[in-house]
Amino acid sequence: MSDSATTGGESLEHELETLLSVERFDPPEPFKEQALLDDPEVYERARRDPQGWWAEQAAALDWSREWDTVLDDANPPFYKWFTGGKLNASYNCVDRHVEAGIGDRVAYHWRGEEGEERDVTYADLHRDVQRFANALKDLGVAPGDIVGIYLPMIPEVVVSMLACARIGAVHNVVFGGFSAESVRERMEFSEAKVLITVDGARRKGRTAPIKATVDDVMGDLATLETIVVVRSTGIDAPMTDGRDHFYDEICDAADPVCPPEPFDAEHPLFILYTSGSTAKPKGILHTTGGYLTGVAATHRHVFDLKPESDVYWCAADVGWITGHSYIVYGPLLNGATSVMWEGAPDFPHQGIWWELVERYKATILYAAPTAIRTFMKWGAELPGKYDLSSLRLLGSVGEPINPKAWLWYRRVIGGDRCPIVDTWWQTETGAIMITPLPGIVATKPGSATLPFPGIFAEVVDESTGEPIDEGQGLLVLTQPWPSMLRTLYKEDDRFVETYFARFGERTYLVGDAARKDKDGYFWIIGRIDDVVNVSGHRLSTAEVESAIVAHERVAEAAVIGQSDEDTGQAIAAFVTLRGEIEGTDVVVEEIRAVVAERIGRFARPKRIIWADDLPKTRSGKIMRRLLRDIAEGRALGDVTTLRDPGVMGALEQKIKEGQAQEN
Ligand code: WT7
Repeated sequence: MSDSATTGGESLEHELETLLSVERFDPPEPFKEQALLDDPEVYERARRDPQGWWAEQAAALDWSREWDTVLDDANPPFYKWFTGGKLNASYNCVDRHVEAGIGDRVAYHWRGEEGEERDVTYADLHRDVQRFANALKDLGVAPGDIVGIYLPMIPEVVVSMLACARIGAVHNVVFGGFSAESVRERMEFSEAKVLITVDGARRKGRTAPIKATVDDVMGDLATLETIVVVRSTGIDAPMTDGRDHFYDEICDAADPVCPPEPFDAEHPLFILYTSGSTAKPKGILHTTGGYLTGVAATHRHVFDLKPESDVYWCAADVGWITGHSYIVYGPLLNGATSVMWEGAPDFPHQGIWWELVERYKATILYAAPTAIRTFMKWGAELPGKYDLSSLRLLGSVGEPINPKAWLWYRRVIGGDRCPIVDTWWQTETGAIMITPLPGIVATKPGSATLPFPGIFAEVVDESTGEPIDEGQGLLVLTQPWPSMLRTLYKEDDRFVETYFARFGERTYLVGDAARKDKDGYFWIIGRIDDVVNVSGHRLSTAEVESAIVAHERVAEAAVIGQSDEDTGQAIAAFVTLRGEIEGTDVVVEEIRAVVAERIGRFARPKRIIWADDLPKTRSGKIMRRLLRDIAEGRALGDVTTLRDPGVMGALEQKIKEGQAQEN
């Protein structure tokens, strides 16, 4: 590698500019030679016989009873996979590796914020999961019960998920960045019986009191019978007699042996709440056999995983689907060794990721474009100080990656030798759907390339639903796949309405716009609904609006996603205050604080624009499309349906003033 590539500066900039004209990158020869899959024939095979292909993938798991039917599509869109089959998720993730004699293999090289290291082996997981599973049973948890998990990135989060799976309880993990209010809402909607949380959580050198905050909002929730508290930071945790228990104490008291019980392939494995078009989050329900099949197959093939030699690092949080599928289930099913990092990318220093890659000799790194853009801003010198030569494959997930960031990732982090897999998927799809197979598919910077074998994606015309060979339209999936969501928890009608109303019960509406190019490659453009993607975090505009109007001075709010160089999209809020009140900086901070409290800090609006009035149709509906147009500085679309077209001129003026101030 040339010096310029590692030291950055003007010549790197120049090289990246030059590379922008390269249309495609073939799989590097040395990579191809050792790849698990190197024959394009797999695509054809899976296309001809998708059920045969998925059955072959399912056979890589250990089933206590083989399935009778691969796909039961008698009642679309309520599909069932591997019916009649029985298996235990935690057995597949842990026991069978121990039985195969690799119990000593490290499952997680865990690294804490203060530099602590804990190597958790498969044998360790085997011991801890059994004890905690028995402890949950002792607390009265039965198959089908919902167990909330609100934990930071510590090994106990994995143990908790697997302990639930072992006894057929359904976990409902809430990302640690969500506020306690959000946790309460999700516990209430799902009628969770138990919540597993922590005394306190560390973030960049500070410790936040989690248990105390949870107590403030959870007190009167009748359905919640028990709170289990992991002692992680040692900070004081208020405990309620009879309701609250320390994790270590109930584990010590529990029987060490908990035989894995086989469950039906369609037994619910977990719920994960995600944002939709309305303020009420959707409880995405995933079941056991199909989900595990999908994540194991994609994790192995997309990352070309060699469990004996690879050190894999997915730098997401367990609280999102990326963490469920590619920190917990996928890697464990495949017997992988992973890196698990507790902290932020800039603490204790901005080179910490690269320090960890060097320290653990990571071979595969899976990260979000927003992180890559941030590293780009910090400069190539930082990664240049560390030995990143162990890396052999890079992944991207969560939002579109701009070609420049893609090229920077390839050059500066991957040293031009590592293929990049840009993986498109969703909480709903459970597993990766559109992605290169790194030993087969030539990549194009910014494109997620082709559907994974056995996945059928199309770009269709918005109005007719007809497939488009080349051009832009709506992304749909036209055949069921094993890891698909089964429903929205307790909201079957909303499930059908949201995903299968537009083009019928056999066509899954993704909610993204996409383009297909002359080679059949997919380019994801972004959401078509009122969902915003801030740093790969999915938010609904309606959710943020309802948080903002909770501020006593706010009369009305309209929230949009505005393109942002760092975070992909950022939240901009148009706010009308009550009466004659001036929108001061104090009110701005108060509004941001309300959003942090109701949803989480990551949802705080980046910009607040005071609006005397909002653009509304004659029937009173806010026209967010027009707000997006002015926020992006685009020519205004049709304004004739507005009750008062004059509103737009005033808002445009505000935006201009605001920009002048920022500059
Ligand atoms: C939405 C799903 C996939 C796990 C993390 C996010 C966007 C996701 C990509 C990608 C372009 C992407 C889509 C999708 N998205 N991956 N590689 N390229 N966009 O899961 O929170 O359910 O969000 O994220 O808009 O619909 P999620």
